[in-house]
Amino acid sequence: MKVVQIGVGGWGKNHARILSQIGVLTAICDVDSNKAKEVGTKYSVNHYSSLDLLLESEKFDAAIVCTPTSTHFSIATNLLQQKKNVFVEKPMTYLSHEGEHLRNVAHKNKVVLTCGYVERFNPAVGLVKEYVKSKRFGELIMLEFHRENRMPLHIKDVGIIYDTSVHDIDTAMWLFDDTPEVVFARSGKIRHDHEDFATIVLGFKDNKIAIISSNWITPTRIRKFEAVCGDAIISSDFISQEVKIITENGIEIPKKEIEEPLLLEIKNFLAACEGKEELLVKPEQAVNTTKIAEAALLSSQKGTPIYLDLK
Ligand SMILES: NC(=O)c1ccc[n+]([C@@H]2O[C@H](COP(=O)([O-])OP(=O)(O)OC[C@H]3O[C@@H](n4cnc5c(N)ncnc54)[C@H](O)[C@@H]3O)[C@@H](O)[C@H]2O)c1
Repeated sequence: MKVVQIGVGGWGKNHARILSQIGVLTAICDVDSNKAKEVGTKYSVNHYSSLDLLLESEKFDAAIVCTPTSTHFSIATNLLQQKKNVFVEKPMTYLSHEGEHLRNVAHKNKVVLTCGYVERFNPAVGLVKEYVKSKRFGELIMLEFHRENRMPLHIKDVGIIYDTSVHDIDTAMWLFDDTPEVVFARSGKIRHDHEDFATIVLGFKDNKIAIISSNWITPTRIRKFEAVCGDAIISSDFISQEVKIITENGIEIPKKEIEEPLLLEIKNFLAACEGKEELLVKPEQAVNTTKIAEAALLSSQKGTPIYLDLK
């Protein structure tokens, strides 16, 4: 397979490294020609400063789009119309109806479209998903997520809900294997142009709940969650990938390998493009996450819960 990397800023550099490591990196594109040249030279591939130039000059099967959120829709539309398989970083689009359009174009052109909800590939989340599915520690009742980080001032187009909380919105739906019926949120801003702290409550059927708390106010980097099940509380750290199970009998820390979630995510995308594996993050799921982010913003503006009817 031949894969191009579009956007090689802070996060896109990681995609380029992994694509090169797998042996499929074909070209780099970034509107910042210095960055395009630096990464293109590092991995000995062609580099371009515009998508049009790249499309005119390169033959390829798939593209990874890792540019600011506000640019995802136009770049991905262009690529899907050229019948390329596309991986778009999260959130798939700023507006949910744009995401629905991308999904329809991908479907019509029979190409793969996915979105970078990388925590699904985090081995810690994978283990908790196994426990929840098998009900080894009883029914999953409640999820609590906590993320904090220093202010990412380079992110100009979205606030913390679209940038950060979306990871936990996706993980909550993945672990409950369901979509929420209602969203209630409070958010505000201290130093960023958009909201820089938010708490989102997602209400699922049978009074199941996810509480998502995110802030860009502290200098610390924390990414954790707790899954409250009928017979245990499972706590997990997205960064260290440690999982801790607390039951009446004590604390258990299962042993497992640390793996790079982004590598697993890119491998799943490439295998899905070749028809070898089922795609884990489906476009309609990414659209639902954007709909919930929209509802969370609206809820925090109106001060009321927003009821949803997601499929
Ligand atoms: N999955 C994750 O864990 C994760 C982590 C970080 C960022 N992200 C996502 O990745 C995307 C990029 O974030 P970042 O932190 O790397 O941002 P960044 O600002 O560091 O990098 C964005 C890059 O895109 C380039 N760019 C802008 N417009 C372009 C265009 N039209 N064509 C080609 N290149 C263009 C910029 O020059 C820049 O180099 C965002 O969607 C973000 O939400 C995902």
